[in-house]
Amino acid sequence: MPVITCIDDLKAIYRRRVPRMFYDYAESGSYTESTFRENSSDFARIKLRQKVAVDMTGRTTESTMIGQKVAMPVALAPVGLTGMQSADGEIKAAQAAKKFGVPFTLSTMSICSIEDVAAATQHPFWFQLYVMRDQEFLEAIIERAKRANCSALVLTLDLQILGQRHKDLKNGLSAPPKLTLPVMMDLATKWRWGLEMLQTKRRFFGNIVGHAKGVGDTSSLSSWTAEQFDPQLDWNKIARIRDLWGGKLILKGINDPDDARIAADFGADAIIVSNHGGRQLDGAASSIRMLPEIVEAVGDKVEIHLDSGIRSGQDVLKALAMGAHATYIGRAFIYGLGAMGEAGVTKALEVIRNELDITMALCGERDVRNLGRHNLMIPRDFL
Ligand code: FNR
Repeated sequence: MPVITCIDDLKAIYRRRVPRMFYDYAESGSYTESTFRENSSDFARIKLRQKVAVDMTGRTTESTMIGQKVAMPVALAPVGLTGMQSADGEIKAAQAAKKFGVPFTLSTMSICSIEDVAAATQHPFWFQLYVMRDQEFLEAIIERAKRANCSALVLTLDLQILGQRHKDLKNGLSAPPKLTLPVMMDLATKWRWGLEMLQTKRRFFGNIVGHAKGVGDTSSLSSWTAEQFDPQLDWNKIARIRDLWGGKLILKGINDPDDARIAADFGADAIIVSNHGGRQLDGAASSIRMLPEIVEAVGDKVEIHLDSGIRSGQDVLKALAMGAHATYIGRAFIYGLGAMGEAGVTKALEVIRNELDITMALCGERDVRNLGRHNLMIPRDFL
């Protein structure tokens, strides 16, 4: 067993174990991938201020997200097709999150259904909603999330139309994969993944198959999205969803201060500053770069969360010190899941918490809630 010391170690194992089609699905951004790359490189441009001779005993990473206690302010982001990275992947990730004490967010586009995850974990999780044209389906899925006791609805606003990812089209991304010759050749070296998949019945989109109109052949995810997702989603429709849901609401995909103002006035419990991990508007600024403007606009009105580009505890610390109340990881936990199943998700969370804890100490901080701009040197063009 290799020694795993960082998220990149998990990524290397993940790459060897999981079919190329699903690795590429996770590890790509839209079009030229410029936003995808800048999500990481912009974190690297922020520098930490080193402090010495400060008592560093009794440190804590505990905090809250929308009033819920968390072991650290890092939730698992909604990730479609998680159950293709590892058999029953959504359940494994949800179990790891439950044991660690951080929120798990189930994607609309998951393989395990809302009911599967609720039955397996017996623990509240968050449900992420993509808004479809089909009103019956929309109402039914909100009802299913309520029945499963989901404790927050994460409404994604930045994917009513899909930003093209070249590799997904070239690979013919589908769930389960179509057994073409290149796929079978790839699977020959990834037979452990194949064996795992044969042992589960959950190989299709659990939340949508048999529900949303026209589903049956999701072989081309991009054309299916174009048919199903509601391109007319606006603030009136969002208000209707808020009323149908009636519980805690998190608006995901805000990357602009004016949108953040509307979301805050709208009464969201939190917003997620996000560019969907660089998978949507290629050329958009990284979310960490947009954060100062958004904090200035609504920092006193709404809880601000952030994702896109987080690969370490140092990145988490930088986001918190710049004014985010909490963060999410997407790919970082997927690498762990694909590499080692539930244990890999736990490992990813442990790596990030240890990095966060040690970096806090070296910055002279004992409590994650006390981090602030005094810990950072922020590039001028971010402000
Ligand atoms: C996503 N993301 C996403 N978001 C969402 O609201 N619903 C979804 O179904 C998905 N699916 C999805 C699949 C994959 C493979 C990835 C990588 C991402 C976006 C996700 O929630 C989050 O915003 C990003 O992953 C954050 O960026 P990092 O942490 O991956 O850099």
